[in-house]
Amino acid sequence: MEQKLKAILSEAEQALSRTDNLDQLNEIRVRFLGKKGLLTSVLRGMGSLAPEERPRVGQLANDVRARIESVLEERMATIKEQVKKEKLAAERIDVTLPGTPFPAGRRHPLSIVEEEIEDIFLGMGYSIEEGPEIELDFYNFEALNLPKDHPARDMQDSFFIGPEVLLRTHTSPVQVRTMERTAPVLPVRIIAPGKVYRRDDDATHSPMFHQVEGLAIDRRVTFGDLKGTLQVFAEKMFGPQTRTRFRPSYFPFTEPSAEVDISCGMCGGKGCRVCSDTGWLEILGCGMVHPRVLEVSGYNPEEVTGFAFGMGVERIAMLKYNIDDMRLLFDNDLRFLAQF
Ligand code: DAH
Repeated sequence: MEQKLKAILSEAEQALSRTDNLDQLNEIRVRFLGKKGLLTSVLRGMGSLAPEERPRVGQLANDVRARIESVLEERMATIKEQVKKEKLAAERIDVTLPGTPFPAGRRHPLSIVEEEIEDIFLGMGYSIEEGPEIELDFYNFEALNLPKDHPARDMQDSFFIGPEVLLRTHTSPVQVRTMERTAPVLPVRIIAPGKVYRRDDDATHSPMFHQVEGLAIDRRVTFGDLKGTLQVFAEKMFGPQTRTRFRPSYFPFTEPSAEVDISCGMCGGKGCRVCSDTGWLEILGCGMVHPRVLEVSGYNPEEVTGFAFGMGVERIAMLKYNIDDMRLLFDNDLRFLAQF
């Protein structure tokens, strides 16, 4: 019996040393150690041994099993290592291949510009207000000193939804809504960004566009404050070399009113195609809040004054990024949008 066990061990060792794949290894395991394997069948014959021999032979049988198991393990590890090496050798990894592109989103140029405008005014102590895009005639026109038959309504071709309801044509109604809420508290310093709607559609007009309204109310606010504020804004938005020019204009809700130009960033003011040889580019409308507007909104025009302004975000973005067609901002063409 001892002989048999030793023979099994050496046979197993030989078989193991000759295998080089995992399937064979498994067959060997079954053949020697399995339930119907060689070792098991030898052990079954233990009963025929003299009792005093059994412990020694039993011990030997255990040693043989342990030995076969450990050689098997070793062999398995070596073969696995071998297989891995072969795989690696066969598999050429080209580290110069471009990776799988990850389609990361980015901010829209209008969002970038709108947030930049917000940051500039937040830095000057303004807070942000919002108003509804579906607006009452009262806030959009009436309270802004534009009664029903006022010719200035023609400047803003509107989408009416009902007799007294329309898509707001500008962010100016937020002035009135804010003052109604805050009066008589001073000072008021807000900007109101948002979407506005007009019946316009060409290379420089879109039926939906964005504005940022500004409003500052306090005792003794002057036109000088307005000029200083917008000069600071222009410099921060378009660079420190930017100059501003205030041209007299007309808006029913401001008196006096002005339109503001900045010096053309393309030619530095000398005149070029971008500025139609004028050296200036219009960026916004502004003025001193009309006493009637203060009054309907709950402030006493005898005690307080204020300035207001309204700018088009698309226009600012087009000037800043030198975009020549406003429709590009709304076409959602990634080749365009990926540039910002
Ligand atoms: N609401 C005007 C527009 O859409 C822009 C504007 C002009 C706003 C003068 C103002 C302002 O607050 O004072 O054309």
